[in-house]
Amino acid sequence: PLYFSNHNYLLMQSFDELAPAFKQYFEVAHFPPVPASLYNGCDYFLSLGGKRVRPVMCLMGNELFDTIHPDAWQVGTAIELFHNFTLIHDDIMDAAPLRRGMQTVHEKYGSSTALLAGDVMLVKAYEYLNKIHIGILHKILTLFNKTARQVCEGQQMDMDFEKLDSVNMDEYIRMIELKTSVLIAASLQMGAILGGASEGNRQHLYEFGKNLGIAFQVQDDYLDAFGDPAKFGKDVGGDIRQNKKTFLLIHALETAGETQQNEMMALMQQNPADKVQRMLAMFKDCHADEWARNLKQEYLNKAIHHLDEIAVVSTRKKSLLDLAHFLIQREY
Ligand code: IPE
Ligand code: IPE
Ligand code: MG
Ligand code: MG
Ligand code: MG
Repeated sequence: PLYFSNHNYLLMQSFDELAPAFKQYFEVAHFPPVPASLYNGCDYFLSLGGKRVRPVMCLMGNELFDTIHPDAWQVGTAIELFHNFTLIHDDIMDAAPLRRGMQTVHEKYGSSTALLAGDVMLVKAYEYLNKIHIGILHKILTLFNKTARQVCEGQQMDMDFEKLDSVNMDEYIRMIELKTSVLIAASLQMGAILGGASEGNRQHLYEFGKNLGIAFQVQDDYLDAFGDPAKFGKDVGGDIRQNKKTFLLIHALETAGETQQNEMMALMQQNPADKVQRMLAMFKDCHADEWARNLKQEYLNKAIHHLDEIAVVSTRKKSLLDLAHFLIQREY
C-alpha cells in the first residue's frame, strides 16, 4: 500500500530538486587519465556543465509512475553522455566557436581529437547502459538505438538544408523532430519504462516529449538569432552565418516582399560582413517574435494534450508542466 512506500502519491520532485541530485551523481571521473590528449577533451567538455535536462527527464519519466529505480541514474548518465557526444560533433559540423560560454572542443583540441572525444563518449554511454538489469536492457537499448539513428538522420537533414535555397515549414519541423525532439521524448520514455508505465501511458509521455522538443528547438533557433550573448553561451548569429534553415528564415522568406526576398537570397550566397545584422533586421520586420511565440505555443499545446491523457493523478504532472514552461522560455 502507498503508506508503506516513500512514494508521494500527490507530488513528484521538481526539476530544481532533481537537477542538483543528478549533477552530483554525474560528477565522477567517466574517463581514464591516459591518453590525456584524448580524455582531456572529454573531461573539459563535461566540466562545462549544461542544463542536464535530458537525464532529469528520464528521472521524471520514471517518478511519474513509481519511485525512482536505481537504473534510472545509469540510463540518465548514458543519455547525458550521448547528448554531449552529439554536441561535440555538432559543433564541428556547425563550425561553432563557443559552447556553454567556453571554447568548443574542436577549437581547443583540434577536429581529430574532437571527433574521437565524441566517439569515446558515445562508447562510454553504452557502457553505462550495459550496467542496467538484464530484464529491462533490451527495451531500453532498442529505444536508445532507434533514437541515436534518428538524431543522425536529423543532423544530416540540417546539413543538407544549409545548401538549399529554401525549405518549407513541414520539412523544418521534421528535421528538428529528428535532431532534437526524439532524444527528449526518448529520455522521458526510458524513465517511464523503468517506472513500469503501461504502453498507453508511455506513448503519451513520448508524444509529450516530442512536441515539447519541437518547441525547445524553436526556442533554441530563436535564441541563436536574438539571444543575449552573455547568457546564451553560444555564438549568437551562428545559424544565420551558416545559412541554417530555421523557422525564422523560412517565415521571413514566405512573408517578405520581393525586394527583401532577393536581399535574403543574396546575403546567403555572398556572405557579406553585415550579413547577420541585415538578416536580423528582416526577421524583425516579419514579426519574428510573435511567430516564435505562436509556434512554441502551438507545440506546447500539443504536448500538454498528451500530458493530460496520461492516467496518473494530475497533481503529479506539475513538475513536467513547470519544466516545459521553463524550457520554452529559457534564455540559455
Ligand atoms: C543544445 O541542448 C542542443 C539542442 C538540441 C538545442 P541544450 O540546450 O540542452 O544544451 P546544454 O546541455 O544545456 O548545454
Ligand atoms: C543541434 O541543433 C542538435 C544536436 C546537437 C543533435 P543545433 O545545432 O541548433 O544545437 P546548438 O545550437 O549548436 O546547441
Ligand atoms: Mg549547433
Ligand atoms: Mg547543428
Ligand atoms: Mg542552435
